[in-house]
Amino acid sequence: MEFTAKSGNPEKQRTACVVVGVFETRRISTVAEQLDQLSDGFISNLIRRGDMDGKIGQTLLLHSVPNTLCDRILLVGCGRERELHDAQYRQIIAKSATILNEIGAMEAVCYLTELHVKGRDNHWNVRQAVETFADSLYTFEQLKSKKDTTRRPLRKVTLGIASRRDLADSEAAVKEGLAIAHGVTLAKDLGNLPGNICTPSYLADVGMALGKEYNSITTEILEAADMEKLGMGSLLSVARGSREPAKLIIMDYKGGKADEKPIVLVGKGLTFDAGGISLKPAAAMDEMKYDMCGGASVFGTMKAIAELNLPINVIGVVPASENMPDGAANKPGDVVTSMSGQTIEILNTDAEGRLILCDALTYVEKYEPDTVIDIATLTGACVVALGKHASGLLGNHSPLIHDLLNAGKSSGDRVWELPLWEEYQEQIKSPFADIANVGGKEAGTITAACFLSRFTKKFQWAHLDIAGTAWRSGDKKSATGRPVPLLTQYLLDRCANK
Ligand code: BES
Ligand code: MN
Ligand code: ZN
Repeated sequence: MEFTAKSGNPEKQRTACVVVGVFETRRISTVAEQLDQLSDGFISNLIRRGDMDGKIGQTLLLHSVPNTLCDRILLVGCGRERELHDAQYRQIIAKSATILNEIGAMEAVCYLTELHVKGRDNHWNVRQAVETFADSLYTFEQLKSKKDTTRRPLRKVTLGIASRRDLADSEAAVKEGLAIAHGVTLAKDLGNLPGNICTPSYLADVGMALGKEYNSITTEILEAADMEKLGMGSLLSVARGSREPAKLIIMDYKGGKADEKPIVLVGKGLTFDAGGISLKPAAAMDEMKYDMCGGASVFGTMKAIAELNLPINVIGVVPASENMPDGAANKPGDVVTSMSGQTIEILNTDAEGRLILCDALTYVEKYEPDTVIDIATLTGACVVALGKHASGLLGNHSPLIHDLLNAGKSSGDRVWELPLWEEYQEQIKSPFADIANVGGKEAGTITAACFLSRFTKKFQWAHLDIAGTAWRSGDKKSATGRPVPLLTQYLLDRCANK
């Protein structure tokens, strides 16, 4: 898909389709007004007759409107003008994208970007439009022998902007939107790939490929033997139950000064979580192929920042493994020794995410990081607590929490903080080891973060639990690519505040 931003009148557009908004109740947007005047009231007549009243998501496709140069005009219901919020804006853009793709327009000029979205500016409108267009037109067809391809797919979208003065800013917004969209697409593809294809070795290849594609990224893969030497007894204990060798994937992006401390992203890359000996129930177990979505978001974010050439140093780390039941697998009651030297009693082998993350978190101490953020589909409890709208956020440094909350608000990829109070640490005491890997049925997301906090004392750290946000269940089951927009926004903000 190609996007450009342009200022100019709708009546001058020689295009397959012009997209304009109509409000409740039957009020038309400034741009639609211009087309209406040109066509001697063609649009207002239709609306007066009741063909459309402007409710959110309503659409009406007009052909050969008198005196216009475009083939079609797509009217899109935008709801109440004063109440156009983020979600409604994304909804109307998504709806337009689907229709434009279906009607075979191939290219279009979309004026919905000129609408006023509450609390947002032109830059936000343009970037969100690009991200939403890409998100709505995403398909995952690579494993079908007969591809369900659109005959004349939408290829080029011009986004209308009200003032020429906003042109440079809009072009920057298009670039950001595209880079994020490419990162999101990579994360979705990796998430949607099944466990038999997307193995730890496959993820390692993806890391290597990013290193090849971008001069700014250098990738290194640690094999089981390397991890053995480092004493990663916790991570390796999870991989022991699987025939797929574990990998620790390290991608070093250098955009800042050589001596500038890096921001480290650590993503859970569990390519299939059967639960291990604490086997999961069969229902919906296929969805545990998505248990590498934290890792996928690290790959996606690395891609986005490399494309944008952000002037910072970022290291992406993905511990990758399967979690399977096997004669060599962890057993409830086993005690393992982590790279940090802390011993862990494994009471439930299904709480494996923290077991692979803890060694990766200890490993990254060597970079003397400015900040570490880990991203993981860590607990079912987080889905219960926050559902699919917000990722869980916990950490040991309140300015970092604050920055992530803000990045969530501005990107629309939202997070919500849960407390990481000392009192919860009680729940992961073990009579046999330094820590237990589970903390009972209360506050599961918090006790998981408590576990990780034992390995993050040397740096500013935040943990994102994306169990509810990384993929959608049901008939439209698919990875979402979250939290690539959040992480990229956080890194963009870090650059802006330098
Ligand atoms: N990958 C799962 C978490 C998960 C479960 C994400 C369901 C999305 C949907 C994780 O490895 C896990 O199994 N966690 C356990 C922890 C428990 C044993 C303390 C869970 O949430 O049930
Ligand atoms: Mn598990
Ligand atoms: Zn898991």
